[in-house]
Amino acid sequence: MNVTAVHIAHMFIKDFVKSGDIVIDATAGNGNDTLFLSTLIGNSGTIISIDIQKEAINRTQQLIARHNPYSNVHYVCDSHEHIGKIAQDYQNQISCIVFNLGYLPGADNTVHITKKDSTLKALESSIQLLNNRGILCVIAYQGHIGGLEEYVAIEQFMQTLEPHIWHVIKSEAINQTNTAPIVLLASKRKY
Ligand SMILES: C[S@@+](CC[C@H](N)C(=O)[O-])C[C@H]1O[C@@H](n2cnc3c(N)ncnc32)[C@H](O)[C@@H]1O
Repeated sequence: MNVTAVHIAHMFIKDFVKSGDIVIDATAGNGNDTLFLSTLIGNSGTIISIDIQKEAINRTQQLIARHNPYSNVHYVCDSHEHIGKIAQDYQNQISCIVFNLGYLPGADNTVHITKKDSTLKALESSIQLLNNRGILCVIAYQGHIGGLEEYVAIEQFMQTLEPHIWHVIKSEAINQTNTAPIVLLASKRKY
């Protein structure tokens, strides 16, 4: 098994997310991250799984139906830039929000690709939703159109998070192409 960006993100998430938590997958895609989170939180937890594309929501629902014994997933077909409104009942209650950026494999990637401005808006709202021990996990891809610009803006945003409250870590491959995905992880410690 190779150490991939998703593997690193999941290892990190696994240490923080527990049964009964409320979490968000901000880019449902094929549903792999939703399935992973849904299994961690169990029946007493809640996951909001968001994607701008109906096709992604369908794929995620199918994956969950095949592999998940729990009924803890709420599907929302909308842009994650509205995450604050989508999860307005859960202010300061979310333990983990995951953004696995880019486009849906096999779909028309020029239409529903994550974009700098909407991603930044979503990240700003996410900060408000996370509880005092919450984590934010972003997997950013530089290889697609606008990907580098999006990644640079995300990194700049995460660098500005209050250091007494947030610890922000970056993980990247150092022997792959310069388009290999980058993981940005932020954990909150507010007393
Ligand atoms: C790389 S895929 C996500 C992979 C997914 N987490 C998985 O485990 O399979 C990126 C997804 O982001 C979605 N997306 C693009 N722009 C979005 C937006 N503004 N709001 C929500 N989802 C968006 C795409 O439709 C696509 O399904």
